[in-house]
This record gives sequence, C-alpha cells and structure tokens, in this order.
Amino acid sequence: MENKKFYITTPIYYPSDKLHIGHTYCTVATDALARYHRLRGEDVMFLTGTDEHGQKIEDKAAEAGVSPKEFVDRIVEGPQGVKDLWKLMNVSNDRFIRTTDDYHVASIQKIFRKMYEKGDIYKGTYKGKYCKPCESFWTESQLVDGKCPDCGREVQDAEEEAYFFRLSKYADRIRDLLENTDFLQPRSRVNEMVKNFIDPGLEDLCVSRTSFTWGIPVDFDPGHVVYVWVDALFNYTTALGLFNDQYHDYDHYWPADVHIVGKEIVRFHSIIWPAMLMSMEMPLPKHVFGHGWLLLDGGKMSKSKGNVVDPYILASMFGVDALRFFLMRTFPFGSDGNFSNELLIQTINTDLANDLGNLVSRTTAMAGKYFGGHLPEGCRSCAAPEPFDGELIGLASSLRGRYEEAMESFAPHKALDEVFKVIQRANKYIDECAPWVLAKDMDANGQRLAHVLYNLLETAQICGVLLSPFMPESCEKLFAQIGAAPDAQTWDSAARWGVLAETAAVTKGENLFPRIDMDKALAELEALEAAAKKAALPAVETEPQLTEKVDFDTFCKCDFRVVKVKACEAVKKSEKLLRFTLDDGTGTDRQILSGIHKFYEPEQLVGKTLAAIVNLPPRKMMGLESCGMLLSAVHTEHGEEKLNLIILDDAIPAGAKLC
Ligand code: MSP
Repeated sequence: MENKKFYITTPIYYPSDKLHIGHTYCTVATDALARYHRLRGEDVMFLTGTDEHGQKIEDKAAEAGVSPKEFVDRIVEGPQGVKDLWKLMNVSNDRFIRTTDDYHVASIQKIFRKMYEKGDIYKGTYKGKYCKPCESFWTESQLVDGKCPDCGREVQDAEEEAYFFRLSKYADRIRDLLENTDFLQPRSRVNEMVKNFIDPGLEDLCVSRTSFTWGIPVDFDPGHVVYVWVDALFNYTTALGLFNDQYHDYDHYWPADVHIVGKEIVRFHSIIWPAMLMSMEMPLPKHVFGHGWLLLDGGKMSKSKGNVVDPYILASMFGVDALRFFLMRTFPFGSDGNFSNELLIQTINTDLANDLGNLVSRTTAMAGKYFGGHLPEGCRSCAAPEPFDGELIGLASSLRGRYEEAMESFAPHKALDEVFKVIQRANKYIDECAPWVLAKDMDANGQRLAHVLYNLLETAQICGVLLSPFMPESCEKLFAQIGAAPDAQTWDSAARWGVLAETAAVTKGENLFPRIDMDKALAELEALEAAAKKAALPAVETEPQLTEKVDFDTFCKCDFRVVKVKACEAVKKSEKLLRFTLDDGTGTDRQILSGIHKFYEPEQLVGKTLAAIVNLPPRKMMGLESCGMLLSAVHTEHGEEKLNLIILDDAIPAGAKLC
C-alpha cells in the first residue's frame, strides 16, 4: 500500500533583512510537524523558500547600492542567510523555492494569463491606499484610524492603471469555506476574517503594478509586474511543477495538507489564495493554520524597531535542540507569546535539565552502577509488582494516543505537555521505588531493581520517540544512552510496552542538557548581543561630502603649514585635551590644544611632523590659548569614532606651506 502523503509548507520569507526568532518559530514549528508525519511513515513533502520580489526589496537594494538580485542573493544564500539559518536549526525541508527562480517566473506568467483569459483578471484603474512595508493595497474603509490595518503604519495615496482579480465573484464560496469547513484554524481566526473582510464585502483585488519594476512581468502587457502576493502564493504549486518542467510531483502532492502561516498573513491564505485557486479550478489546500506572534515586551519584533532576537546567538549559547524545544513547549501555537531570555533559560532548566535530563541520567547511571550497563534477562516482568508500576506503565503506553490527538489538531505545545506529564511521573516513580534502597540487598531485591530500571528505560524510550520531531539530535543521543535499537525508535514502538531488549547496553553518556546559570548566561547573552549589534553596523562610515561650494580665494585664505611636535602633554583636569608645543618654522613656538587624548598618548607624538591650519583666531580652552588646529582624518568603524592625525614625512621642513 502506498504511504499516505503529507504536504506541508511554511510561508516563503521576505529576504529584506536577516531573519529573527519570530521567523524561526514559524519554520521550526512546521519542521516539527513535518518530522512528526515522517515518523508516522508518511510520504512527506515539506516546502519552504523565499519571496523575493516587490517594492520593498527594490528600495532596500537601491539603499544598499546593489541590484535587487544581488541583494536577495546575499540574504538568501550568504553567511547567516536564510538557508544557513534553516541548516543551523536542523530544518528538514525537502525543497526550497526562490520566487526569482526561472521556472517559477515562467509558471506565474502562465497562471496570470490563464486567469486573464478566463475573465477573472481584467484591466482597470487603481485608486486607494498603499502600505509600502506590507505591500498591501487597502480601501479607505479597511484602514484602522487611517493607518494600515496589518501593521499600523502610515499609508499613501495611490492611483495607477492596473489589472484586477475578481475576488468579489468568489465571496460567497469563500464565506462558505470559512464558516462551514475546518479549512482555517484555529477557529478564532475564522471570526476575524469574516468580521473584518467578508462581512464588509470583498472588493476586487489589484494584482499588477506599474510603479516599480522588480517583479514578474505580465508577459502580455509590458510595464506591468505581477502583484507580489499572486507571485508568492502560487509558489506552493510551482514548487511541485505546476506549469513547469523543474518538478513533476504536482499531481502527487497537491492539494497541500496544511499551510502554516503567521496571523498577519491569514487573510492572504484564507481569502485571496482559495479564490485564485477556485478561479484556476484547482483543488484547495486542506488546512491553513494561523499561528500567533512571538512578542518582545508585548510588541511585535521588527528590524525597524531594533528589537529583534537573533537565533544564531541563542543557538550558540543554548544549543539548537533546546531552542527548538523552548519555542514549541512554551507558547500555545495559535496564540501570541512573550519571548524573554529568562523564560528560555527557565524552561531549559526545568524541563530539560531537571525533568528529562535527570530521568535519563539517573536511570542510565543506576543501570551502570548496579548492573554494569546490562540489565539481567527477565527484567521485563516482576514477581511482586507495585501499584505505581502499573500507573507508570499505563500512562506511558497510552501517551502516544494523547500526543497524536494534539499533533493532529496542530497543538504541538499540548503534545509536549503530555510527554512531560509522563516524564514527571517517571521521576516520581524513581522516588517511590527508591532504587538505591533496593540496591542495598541485591540478592533479595536485584530482580525488582532491574524491573524498576527497565520500566524507566522504556518510559524514556517512548518519550524519546515522541520528542524526536522536536529535538532530533538530542533524541538520537538519548537512544544511544538507553540502548534503543532502530526498531525501538519508531512510531510503532511508542505505543507498545516492552520494546527495549532486556539486556541492551545502557551507558551513562554526556549530560544531555546541562543546567544553566541564569545570571551568568544573561550577562553573556548581553555581551554577545552587543557585539553582534556592533558587527552589524557598517564597517566604515565617512561623513557625506559637502555640496556647498567655496570659491578659490576663500580657500587660499586658509594657511595650512607643516609643524613639528617639540613637546606634548595632557592638559590637567581634562580627559580629552592634549597641549602641543610646535615648531612652525617661524622661530617662535606655537601652542595648539587638541581634543585627541582618546586616540593618542602624548609621548607617541613627540618628534612627529604634522599638518595644521595656523591662521584661525586664537581660542581659550581650560584657561590655555590654542593658536590653530591640527589636521586629522576622521571616520566611524562599526559605529565607533576613529581619528588619525595627518602625519607627514619627517624630511619636510617645519613651516612648509600646504596647498
Ligand atoms: N513573504 C510573505 C509570505 C508569503 S507566503 C506565500 C511574508 N514573509 S515574512 O518574512 O514577512 O514572514 C514570514 C513568516 O514569519 C510569517 O508567517 C510571519 O507571521 C512570521 N513571523 C514574522 N515575525 C514573527 C514573529 N515575531 N512571531 C511569529 N511569527 C512571525 O509574510
């Protein structure tokens, strides 16, 4: 029999900036679901990618002084780019689409033409409001307090000749889809969509632009580019080979089983996307799941607010699996959640170091200490079982059912909660059985002790299997420590009690999740974040050149001369000032004060040949007179001010004129 297919997607990301922990949340969640379906033996297709067109990218590239393609290439393929991040986070996508890929571009042109020929796309004039950061057009009535209803930012008036998609034609079918099926989840999102968009009346959607060029050209009307959301949404099908020869599994995988998306793009996925699919007479995805946002101090993370959390830093400090686990364990998947480093460390310490880590390390350590790492044959059963044996065995062997129910309803946090109830029960079981007491009389209690440890190993095995979609690498280590052979790492084995070989080799390996010292880790994080911020600043910045012109005569009035440093000392009570005694070639010493102590020690400068302007009016500083100014070059490096005195060849005599 063919395996059940499961097609799951993440949104394709805008490569306008480095991705942050919010994007990571969305992709890690999708990855955990994809791994769960693979664990079940399904034929999974997991797609992610990047959405690379649109005005925002065009503008950002112009700011950076590179072409849009060079700009996106850097963020998608470059160091710490999108692909790098997914590799680091152990994301197991089967495919990665870039909307600038040729095959996608050609497919979108065919799709656009098809909807046009059908009469569902027509030409008109667009008048309305445009939110540039969201690349969304809005009608006056959709604005909230005159601002973009998605991001709350200012919108601009916009008017242009454009193509429109007959969204209004599909309003009734969309309402029916939302209200009468389980297409959109969680259910609360249905109410939002109906109230905010369907009830006020769906208007036709503007689906082409002429005000910029970085997009897929409408091939039958040059000058128009396809609206970025039309281009982006169809990625889910072009990446399977719809209207192209790059891939050939559209018929196999489409329709998608679920699109996982953040709440602000639910409108696109639950209204516009199904309407366009209806127009194309294509099957609809089975589900769209709109997850919540990770917030920071109650607000959305965004690069422009400067409050993004860097997943690279967190993964390097705490490990990829701990970070993946934290994201899935802590925040109910359909709701918003407040991210904080304290919460992250607390979760690692409580759930991973204390509960799971302790269960594994205590059990494997005792198997080593009392039985040399091999339990005796017969340990699966016990002559005198205690009531708590049955309780633990019952809870652990029924865990898979509860876990499955949660995962199937897109509630990974609930699935993890069920696993941790069992882990906590197992730790309590250790205390109830007190193996260390049993071990005092091995002749009398050896068989009982072995049975207790076997029960614990079995519990760890079941939990390991069910945790593996969330923490794949750590669970492999766990399996190695408890001696779980490949057939004890399967979905099947998580619902059967007694799958571990009785005499399998148990080894107390490295501590899976060491405890973290909260204060030390927070201080280290702060230092790493500060260093990363600094490194992200432009390497070298110089002041822009002045555009105002000076006439030649004015320039000639400035008297620049070569001077030699006879003496130099720090000015008392001043942190900045150095006092220079200079030979300016006149035979009389010249005194200049310069605020450069931060950059030079006085003894470094004695004997140096420098440049100075000598006809500035004298100025008093800290009670001392300064007659002129030394010339230096200034710039910023990673946000830090740098200064270099203009140091000349010593062969040049004092007093020589600079011109
Ligand atoms: N390019 C569109 C998606 C097109 S899909 C056909 C887009 N890209 S995005 O990069 O801005 O966002 C990608 C995903 O990251 C969205 O689902 C968004 O909700 C999610 N997140 C971005 N910041 C987030 C948080 N702070 N928290 C949770 N998810 C967040 O939208």
